[in-house]
Parts: sequence; C-alpha cells; structure tokens
Amino acid sequence: MAEIKKAKIGIVGSGLIGRSWSMLFASVGYQVVLYDILPEQVATALKQTQKELLDMESKGLLRGKLNAVQQFSCISGTNDIKELVKGAILIQECIPERLDLKKALYKQLDDVVDDNTILSSSTSTFLPSLFSADLKHKHNVVVSHPVNPPYYVPLVEIVPAPWTKPELVQKTRALMTEIGQKPVTLSREIEGFALNRIQYAILNETWRLVEAGILNVKDIDSVMSDGLGPRYAFLGPLETAHLNAEGMANYFERYTQTIYNVSQTMGPTPKMEGPVAVDVAKQLNEMVPLDKLPERRNYRDNCLTHLALLKKKLNE
Ligand SMILES: NC(=O)c1ccc[n+]([C@@H]2O[C@H](COP(=O)([O-])OP(=O)(O)OC[C@H]3O[C@@H](n4cnc5c(N)ncnc54)[C@H](O)[C@@H]3O)[C@@H](O)[C@H]2O)c1
Ligand SMILES: *[C@@H]1O[C@H](CO)[C@@H](O)[C@H](O)[C@H]1NC(C)=O
Ligand SMILES: *[C@@H]1O[C@H](CO)[C@@H](O)[C@H](O)[C@H]1NC(C)=O
Repeated sequence: MAEIKKAKIGIVGSGLIGRSWSMLFASVGYQVVLYDILPEQVATALKQTQKELLDMESKGLLRGKLNAVQQFSCISGTNDIKELVKGAILIQECIPERLDLKKALYKQLDDVVDDNTILSSSTSTFLPSLFSADLKHKHNVVVSHPVNPPYYVPLVEIVPAPWTKPELVQKTRALMTEIGQKPVTLSREIEGFALNRIQYAILNETWRLVEAGILNVKDIDSVMSDGLGPRYAFLGPLETAHLNAEGMANYFERYTQTIYNVSQTMGPTPKMEGPVAVDVAKQLNEMVPLDKLPERRNYRDNCLTHLALLKKKLNE
C-alpha cells in the first residue's frame, strides 16, 4: 500500500467543484474534510464521491496510486467550521459565485483559522482583493481557479492579491502540482484572470462573425473544435506559431504585418445582446435542446477523459 500522507485539507462547499477538489487531494492521500452550510449536502456529497471513485476505478480512470477504497477513506465530513479549519494546511473555498456570500464566509474563517493556513478560493470571476481586503489573515488568501471538470482538465490559475505572501503562493502552486494539476501563477490579479480573458477574446470574435452573417453558429464552433482546438489540446497558440514557421522570430517576420492588418478590421468590442443574441441562442438550442444539456455534458466529460488518457499515454 502506498504511503498515505497525513496533512489535512479543508473543503468549504460540497457542490460540483468541492467534490472534485476532494477527489484530487485524496488521490495522493491528503486527509480531506468536507464542510457545507447544508449538513445534508455533506452526506450526499460523500455518497456521490464514493460512488464516483469506485466507478472511476472500474473504468481504469482513477488518479493517483491509492485504490478507490483507500482514497475514499481519506475523505470525511463535518458540520462544524472550527473543526474544519483546525490544523488544516489549506482551505479550498467552493461556495457559490456571489461576492456577499464569499465576503461573509471569509469573515467567518478569519476568526477561526490558524495563522499558517492557506485560504484558497475557487472563484472564477472575483479578484482576491475584493473579498480579502478587510481580513486579519488577508496575507493568506489566494485564488486557485480550476477548470470544469477539474478531474480531467488540469489547469489551475493561481492568482495572488496585492498582499498575498509570496511563499504562500509558491506553497499553493507546489500543492497543485503534487495532486497532478497544472498550475500557472499570475504575477498579479487582473479581471478575468488569463483563461477567461482569452476565452472572451474568442467569444468576441465568433460573435462578430455570426453578427456579420459570415458563418452560422454550427460552423463557427467547427472552426474551433475541428481546427484550432485539436492543436490547442497539445500545444498553445505561441508554440503552434513557432512550429508553423521556422521558429517564432521567423513567424513574426512573416506574419506580424498580416496579423496587425487583420486585427485592425475587427471593430469595437461587441455587446452580446439584442436580436443577434436571440438568434445565436436559437441556433444553439436547435443544435443542443435544453433538455439534452446533461447528455451533452456527459459527452464532453467522456471526450475529456479519453483525451486526458491519450495525452498521458503519448507523453509517457
Ligand atoms: N462549476 C464550474 O464550472 C466552476 C468552474 C471553476 C470554478 N468554479 C467556482 O467554484 C465555486 C463553486 O462552484 P460550484 O459549481 O461547485 O457551486 P455549487 O452551487 O455546485 O456548490 C456550492 C456549495 O456551497 C454550499 N454553500 C453555500 N454557501 C455556503 C457557505 N456559506 N458555507 C459553506 N457552504 C456553502 C452550497 O450548499 C453548495 O453545496 C464558485 O466560486 C465557482 O465560480 C466553478
Ligand atoms: C473584441 O474584439 C475587438 C476587436 O478585435 C477588440 O478591440 C476588443 O478588445 C475585443 N474584446 C475582447 C474582450 O477581446
Ligand atoms: C497591411 O496594410 C497596409 C496598409 O493598408 C498595406 O500597405 C500592407 O501591404 C498590408 N500588409 C499585409 C501583409 O497585409
């Protein structure tokens, strides 16, 4: 049996993301404690997690070296926030994306948390300074933004507030690497972090191509999923460019002017509202009716699972 580590990780909020973090930390033997404002939600989450771990094991998809029973034995629940934070090296906050709720929770944690505990938020949109400014432990707060579904999409954006202790950022990063995720550390907080800034630039341009009647929704999505996406699953846009010419310097020599010229034709930032928004939504509802969303999410997760396995195999 592989060695089981003893350090404790607290998870606040046992919804979709909280459960994913629990499995990731337990996959290498951290002692995970789950907490939720709704006690019955903790019990439900534990049951779901156990089922999911066993299911993953049966499909050969379990992460880490421990078996499903060992991993599940690392996860427990509590209804007491003091109990949760006691001795934890990191608290991963996964409560709903509402600033008032986050602020209230951090205030509560501030009163009970140890001085060395990392307070790590899963928020996808709030700058860490927005909910940490007034805390005694504000130096301990950092964002670790996962990508859904975190079990198969490894990126974690680590975003410090202006006052976050640098050594704490490094420690968070090391933990993320240890559980098999791929952390990137932003040097400072910025709206949208990196992933959503890039995602919005893409949405921005796809919107304008649909609005101008150049491609429909289905074909725009095909440009990504059949064109750019397959490359980007393995190489980022910069390395892609490096390989598409005789190195990046040569790429710039060849394409800088073209890229600049094309970019000049892109027009102002669109507001995604009005009749075009209605039409885009209509086309998407035809592609994937709303009652088929869960089915389509399963399809997505299944594809990502296989892609993760393939990447692992190719890189071994
Ligand atoms: N779902 C995603 O795709 C995704 C991706 C990346 C980041 N995130 C971020 O992760 C966080 C959680 O998202 P989710 O999808 O898991 O939400 P969710 O709604 O599935 O789960 C939230 C859980 O928090 C509990 N909760 C609410 N208030 C609480 C409190 N004060 N104390 C303790 N528990 C509380 C709820 O009962 C619920 O179980 C959000 O900040 C979200 O932006 C979500
Ligand atoms: C949207 O596109 C326009 C044109 O490229 C650009 O000026 C603007 O900065 C873009 N906005 C985003 C969010 O990418
Ligand atoms: C870019 O635009 C300028 C000005 O219109 C033009 O002179 C130049 O030939 C263009 N270059 C390329 C590579 O498109």
